[in-house]
Amino acid sequence: MFESLELLAPDAIIGLIAECRNDSRDKKVDLGIGVYRNAAGETPVLDVVKQAEQRLVDSQASKSYIGSAGPADFNTVMRDMTFAGSVTNERVAMLQTPGGSASLSVAAGVVLRAMKGATLWVSNPTWANHIPLLGEAGLEMKVYDYYNAKRHSLDFDPMLETLRAIPRGDMILFHASCHNPTGIDPDEEQWRTIADIVVERELVPVIDMAYQGFATDLDTDAFVIRQLASQVPEMIVCNSCSKNFGLYRDRVGILLIMTVDSRTRDIVQSQADNYVRTVYSMPPDHGAAVVSTILHDDGLHADWIVELEEMRGRLRDMRVLLRDALRTRAPGHDFSHLVRANGMFSFLGVSAEKVESLKRDHAVYMVDSSRINVAGITPTNVDHIADSIAAVL
Ligand code: LMR
Repeated sequence: MFESLELLAPDAIIGLIAECRNDSRDKKVDLGIGVYRNAAGETPVLDVVKQAEQRLVDSQASKSYIGSAGPADFNTVMRDMTFAGSVTNERVAMLQTPGGSASLSVAAGVVLRAMKGATLWVSNPTWANHIPLLGEAGLEMKVYDYYNAKRHSLDFDPMLETLRAIPRGDMILFHASCHNPTGIDPDEEQWRTIADIVVERELVPVIDMAYQGFATDLDTDAFVIRQLASQVPEMIVCNSCSKNFGLYRDRVGILLIMTVDSRTRDIVQSQADNYVRTVYSMPPDHGAAVVSTILHDDGLHADWIVELEEMRGRLRDMRVLLRDALRTRAPGHDFSHLVRANGMFSFLGVSAEKVESLKRDHAVYMVDSSRINVAGITPTNVDHIADSIAAVL
């Protein structure tokens, strides 16, 4: 039966992990997949995670099943970190999911039960897996203007124009902060304008928040969610603990569906639980138990905030370091957008051929679109990165 299938090329982002790993050159640099790296180029387990894991080893009494929605203590604390009281609790259906990706898939599954042929608008560009993941799930995918590649900035007016033309009732996806792949986010004033259009067009917002705490802080990064919560009747939020807790492979995320009232919440919760039961039955618990342990303990919570600040600070520092290194080596080119962007990503703004040459001739790895993960920059490798970029320019 499988003869009809074709061999596929590796995933554009995941494929880079193996490609870089198999490169034996000493100077290789991985600016590909979005994982945090410290100054030694490692993606360490956070100290607070180690402590929480130790507590779990010592105290966890059972690994019996919990249920399709995952643990309530995790869900409530994550709901509070996401909404901060901007919506009443009885309006929010909640499910712990295996990472942010599963949160998006379950959201799509539930939406399609409610509305066959639902259309979702995503920014152009958006995370490379949004359209495959949500399109495969069955949503009709469309794009709205977002990024001005020439100026490396938000294309705000064209964006508003496309938003105003979206048919009433369609869904629209926003990145809460640290837009992936551009790193360019609307400011609060711009979010307010966007939110007004969402209300005017009666759009249903879907907020993907994979980087809460990586741009400014936990609250500021959730601004658009809290702004919209007071303005719209329904909203979907997909939050992830992969990056801010460094729990990538443990797969921890949450799906929060804000509904008009508690009766609808109960219906949506039952549908979402039932949907999950037909796909993966229940989410893995370990990572969620770790997050819950940290967020329910004042000491661990405070220590986590410090570790989060450290990660955020390093990303900012590395942006400045690369911008400065490029200033002298490529004086005719403007890389100032590197420091105007948030989180892990920025576009370098070079062609796919140059990206290929960076890989082949200089062992510098990045996504074809020239998206770089600034966490891969270190004070030790920045000269090599900048020399290589200057050479291909
Ligand atoms: C990325 O964009 O690199 C991360 O979100 C990891 C992934 O799954 O693509």
